[in-house]
Amino acid sequence: MNKKVLLVGDGAVGSTFANDLLQHTRVDELVICDVVKKRPLGDSMDLEDILPFTGECNIHSGEYSDAKDADVVVITAGVPRKPGESRLDLVNKNVNILKSIIQPVVESGFNGIFLVSANPVDILTTLTQKLSGFPKNKVIGTGTSLDSARLKVDLARRLHVPVAEVNSMVLGEHGDTSFENFDESTVSGKPLKDFAGIDNSVLDQVESGVRKKGGKIIENKGATFYGIAMMLTQIVTAILTNRSIALPLSAPIKGEYGIKNELYLGTPAVVNGAGISQVLETELSETEKAKMLNSASKMQEVLDNIAL
Ligand code: 2OP
Repeated sequence: MNKKVLLVGDGAVGSTFANDLLQHTRVDELVICDVVKKRPLGDSMDLEDILPFTGECNIHSGEYSDAKDADVVVITAGVPRKPGESRLDLVNKNVNILKSIIQPVVESGFNGIFLVSANPVDILTTLTQKLSGFPKNKVIGTGTSLDSARLKVDLARRLHVPVAEVNSMVLGEHGDTSFENFDESTVSGKPLKDFAGIDNSVLDQVESGVRKKGGKIIENKGATFYGIAMMLTQIVTAILTNRSIALPLSAPIKGEYGIKNELYLGTPAVVNGAGISQVLETELSETEKAKMLNSASKMQEVLDNIAL
């Protein structure tokens, strides 16, 4: 069965994702769209040169109408953060860009899965579902998957263990109201808080470092793209191969954690060929539940101020 991906946005994230994806999984057709028409042309030609080592793929620039028979539409298009900007500062500009994408994609007859990484990702994922009218399980955001990767790396370095031994997540908004599930976190099966040298002040440092890391990368190199591109690659691979993975994603909340509003927010979820096949309401302490509710209400406040 033809595996086809339409990539919307060929900037640093989109281009890095395209390169990662082709090296990671079989894709029969990769269509690249961007408002700057020559970029996808150049990238398609550039990416073709890796095919002798990755296997065949029909890579070409295209239009939103090419989504008609795509399995996944990946939306990276949006104005990226500048140093000192928050992700929420981008909301007005990026909502307008999103609107210009969703309508023609839906009109093409697309009935696959939307995957969103553009920021503010929880807001844009919620709006992708509203604008498209797609079933909620067929709209996914990268959510706090990247933050959780950053958290695992930080804790692994501090505790001198392999990253794979760290079982800890960032949840809620991919942004300033995110929080860690430290009360449930384990390393090599042992509660994180039982480790020598791990006290509340250290955990505060970890939380702050993870939250600020995206901004620090942007300050130093102008943008972040390797981490987020890998999250997109993992998710698209799970969809195309129908091999389930669980990640903290921007997933459709419907009553989980006592959240009243229906929106997308960072929570563990299972993704596969059906999109989000299960939202996993993870165990949280009372303090963490309050942080999740706070994150949800902040997102709802932003959503309430957006006129579609
Ligand atoms: C980041 O934190 C792109 O928002 C993403 O790097």
